Amino acid sequence: MSVIRKSEARLLSVGKPRPSRDPDVPYRVYIQTFGCQMNEYDTELVCSLLQDRGFVLTPDQDQADVVLMNTCAIREHAHTRVYSHLAEWKARKQERPVVIGVLGCMAQNLKKELMEAHPVIDVLMGPDSYRQLPDLLTNALDRRERAMAVDLSEYETYESILPERKPGVNAWIAIMRGCDNFCSFCVVPYTRGRERSRSVQSIVEETHALVGQGYKQVTLLGQNVNSYRSHDADFAKLLTEVADVPGIERVRFTSPHPKDFPPTLLDVVAHHPHVCRHVHLPLQSGNDRILDLMGRSYTRNDYRTLVNEIRRRGDVALSTDIIAGFCTETDAEFLDTYELVREVDFQSAYVFKYSERKNTIAYRKFPDDVAEAVKSERVTRLVELQRGISAGKNRELMGTEVEVLVEGNAKKSSDQWMGHTERNVTVVWDKAALPLTLGDRVTIKVDDASASTLFGTPVFPVNARARSSMDRALDYGSRG
Ligand code: SAH
Ligand code: SF4
Ligand code: F3S
Repeated sequence: MSVIRKSEARLLSVGKPRPSRDPDVPYRVYIQTFGCQMNEYDTELVCSLLQDRGFVLTPDQDQADVVLMNTCAIREHAHTRVYSHLAEWKARKQERPVVIGVLGCMAQNLKKELMEAHPVIDVLMGPDSYRQLPDLLTNALDRRERAMAVDLSEYETYESILPERKPGVNAWIAIMRGCDNFCSFCVVPYTRGRERSRSVQSIVEETHALVGQGYKQVTLLGQNVNSYRSHDADFAKLLTEVADVPGIERVRFTSPHPKDFPPTLLDVVAHHPHVCRHVHLPLQSGNDRILDLMGRSYTRNDYRTLVNEIRRRGDVALSTDIIAGFCTETDAEFLDTYELVREVDFQSAYVFKYSERKNTIAYRKFPDDVAEAVKSERVTRLVELQRGISAGKNRELMGTEVEVLVEGNAKKSSDQWMGHTERNVTVVWDKAALPLTLGDRVTIKVDDASASTLFGTPVFPVNARARSSMDRALDYGSRG
């Protein structure tokens, strides 16, 4: 194995050069994204880096010279999906030459092992090496070189790169990368490396630019978003500065850790007129022994206290993540989680079956001893409990009016609009009822509700109403 480009990229093998081609015809790249919003954001970064170097993007994989998969490693299922795509491309590659690149967390997690087991992969790259992607793809295309770049960085934030965003209403900004928490079940600290934050100035400048491009809602992203720190600025300060940018209607953030919620942050979430009244607050378990094994650094009671602190300040919706069937979890310990979910009354919850991840603390120290059938049953019980709670909360909204940002077509029909309330509930309504465009804010009277969606009728555009965001801004200001 020889080393190319100073340190990180490793050249693994060189094949016969490709027949010469017209250098004026750009290479076409197809990219598929798995995993979380951070990966979606990274795909936008990768697209930007590639376009700057003359690659063009194609939505058609059959036309592509390069196929990239931006992968996830959080649960085994995420790996399985990528393996099946690799098997498919192995067959297709025999019909026509195409360069296959595997990017992201699975690449970082498995490294050489993945590359060696799957000769179909030409380029393997972890999340901190994307600046090298254009070079490695060019080498793979022109000289059939196989290479990988999987070094993690303590500094890379891609601060200077403007992501290639889809036009629309919503934009993501990654404000920090990496995670230092090392929850015992989680692979992220190994796939994303150490925590590092972008400067407040660069994030605020990017927000101004987004407003200029017509975006209305910004979601601040980080694996551990509220541990953001840049010089003396903490997350509450950054959130306020972003939400103060004129023209930004709504600011969201994900995912915070319950350990980093100082009162200043709670106040911003409860009162700033442009910060949405919604917190995604991953619980993982409601039992103290399991929380301790997970390394979550809070107890059931700490979590409850935080929920009360949030709710004491205002009507803020809460959603959560839960893992069922973690190592050694007993029925009684699971019931603690079940009871806490009932008590907290979340708006929604993502429930996951524990999936052992190689090299994590849990993998090294605890047995993955809850039977598959028991894990599945616990997931089903929690999902059913939460579905009932969500449906009940949504039904309570029937007959009321909710304020919605028009975000795009409904999933099921392009004759319907879809948007969210500030509390992050999905709302769907017929386009024919009122002429609206993307980015409008509108009041919807709720006629019907399921556990996941409100259905309604537009009453009038909010912009014409008395209680505009300016009024709310004045309210906030007068609160002092
Ligand atoms: N940084 C976020 C979580 C990112 S991963 C946080 O701390 O909340 C998203 C969710 O995946 C986690 O909240 C957890 O519920 C779930 N998850 C992570 N590792 C898992 C594993 N090994 N098995 C099952 N679910 C897992
Ligand atoms: Fe994983 Fe815990 Fe970090 Fe979240 S906080 S990314 S669950 S290690
Ligand atoms: Fe998956 Fe990596 Fe996100 S493991 S959940 S893509 S941070």
